[in-house]
Amino acid sequence: MSPSSSLPARVYIDTNRTVAEISPLLFGGFAEHMGRCIYGGIYDPQSPQADERGFRRDVLDALREVNYRIMRYPGGNFLSGYNWLDGVGPREKRPRRRELAWKSVETNQFGTNEFMEFCHSIGTLPMLGVNMGTGTISDAANLVEYCNAPVGTAFADLRAAHGYREPHKVQYWCLGNEMDGPWQIGHLEADEYGRKAREAAKMMKWHDPSIKLSLCGSSSNSMPSYPEWDRIALELCWEHVDYLSMHRYVGNHDDDTASYLALAADLEAQVDTLAACLRYVKSKLRSKHDVYLSWDEWNVWYKARTMDGQWTEAPHLIEEVYNLEDALVVAQWLNVFLRKCDVLKIACLAQIVNVIAPLLTRHDRLLKQTTYYPLVLFSRYASGMSLDVLTQAPSYTTKQYGDMPLLDVAASYDAAHDSSAVFVVNRSLTSDVPVDIVWQDKAPKRISAIHQLAGNDPKAANSFDQPDTVIPSVLPGLAVADKHLSLHLPPLSFTVLVGKG
Ligand code: AHR
Repeated sequence: MSPSSSLPARVYIDTNRTVAEISPLLFGGFAEHMGRCIYGGIYDPQSPQADERGFRRDVLDALREVNYRIMRYPGGNFLSGYNWLDGVGPREKRPRRRELAWKSVETNQFGTNEFMEFCHSIGTLPMLGVNMGTGTISDAANLVEYCNAPVGTAFADLRAAHGYREPHKVQYWCLGNEMDGPWQIGHLEADEYGRKAREAAKMMKWHDPSIKLSLCGSSSNSMPSYPEWDRIALELCWEHVDYLSMHRYVGNHDDDTASYLALAADLEAQVDTLAACLRYVKSKLRSKHDVYLSWDEWNVWYKARTMDGQWTEAPHLIEEVYNLEDALVVAQWLNVFLRKCDVLKIACLAQIVNVIAPLLTRHDRLLKQTTYYPLVLFSRYASGMSLDVLTQAPSYTTKQYGDMPLLDVAASYDAAHDSSAVFVVNRSLTSDVPVDIVWQDKAPKRISAIHQLAGNDPKAANSFDQPDTVIPSVLPGLAVADKHLSLHLPPLSFTVLVGKG
């Protein structure tokens, strides 16, 4: 994969040329009752790390550092068989259930109210799913009443009896999960789902007109019904919903790192297709209402495939180990979020701990995997407006996508804090890429810090024994001279330039 030219790459930035304001909800997470995400991850009363509520302190601290702004719960495939009433009220009365999505035993010791406490302690907004598989439209509406209505009627009073007199005021809701998938408990055809979701949406919004609803879109762009499913469901529900959900998992299945690192183009195409679908439905219906995209499951997932819990509690399921190339894909995915933030308003990394997650726990220890670091850097530095950056970079050849530029770039400018950031991935496995960054109007006075995740081995990973194999370095800042900055980006790297002034 030798680059087509050794000319320096050029990145042109103009703070007046913007995509849109970056929604903070793009930095969201997803916590499912699956494997050891909830039990052994968030909630682990037996661990020396547990606080008085049974939440792991080390996990809470690491989640706070990412600063997830929204958290989707309780599933996932789990959602489609879940009766939310099992997870509220006195713990000793909660039923143990055979959980059919992951063939595990669900103890229900963690439920809606514990989740609210958890969200509160890490400063994130809850996004609750309602069961559209085995659940009824009444179950969905009752959960909105339980969470959001003032006391005085049955389900709100039940909440008060459970110790929460004040409503939880949950603003964001998902109308089921991956209902297009035959694997889903209670799977429906698009028109069946659209009708059920619409009726649930009406009842939910009658309880609380301020809530925002997300409709299930296709569970992946590889589904045969994609994107027809999305069109049909949207046409039935358009006026009643606010977001269309997207899901996608990717991996280096053929051990073809050059192609894997160019995958961002394909992720971007998925947004473009669904944005076109939104525009089509809006104009077909002559609507004044807008629906946006919520990429509420996204991640690298292809190595760990154990999904059968063998009817045990908190089994080790899909505990993916992430390496450097995975982190570079995650960084580019976040770049896609910035480049598409005019239509993409919510994104939730699936998932936050142990299950395909940037964090892994052991009895009393926590490991930050490679993918943890791009998340922290974007969450910390991408704010204000996303900029429409022009990148000219040498190209390289990939088996899957043909010729692709060596660099993948996004940038942000936050006028309120007079700060900016440039996020650059060098996809080359071998070549250092010289790059000139040119600001066309207002340039930062200084690049106050440079954060860089890089290495020679795309397969390098962190482990409990060697937790610092792939961690970002902080390089000294640089002066910006004449709106210009030249630097060299090492191969297999993700670099964040933080601008001030
Ligand atoms: O995140 C793991 C699973 O992937 C979720 O339960 C499901 O929605 C998706 O298929």
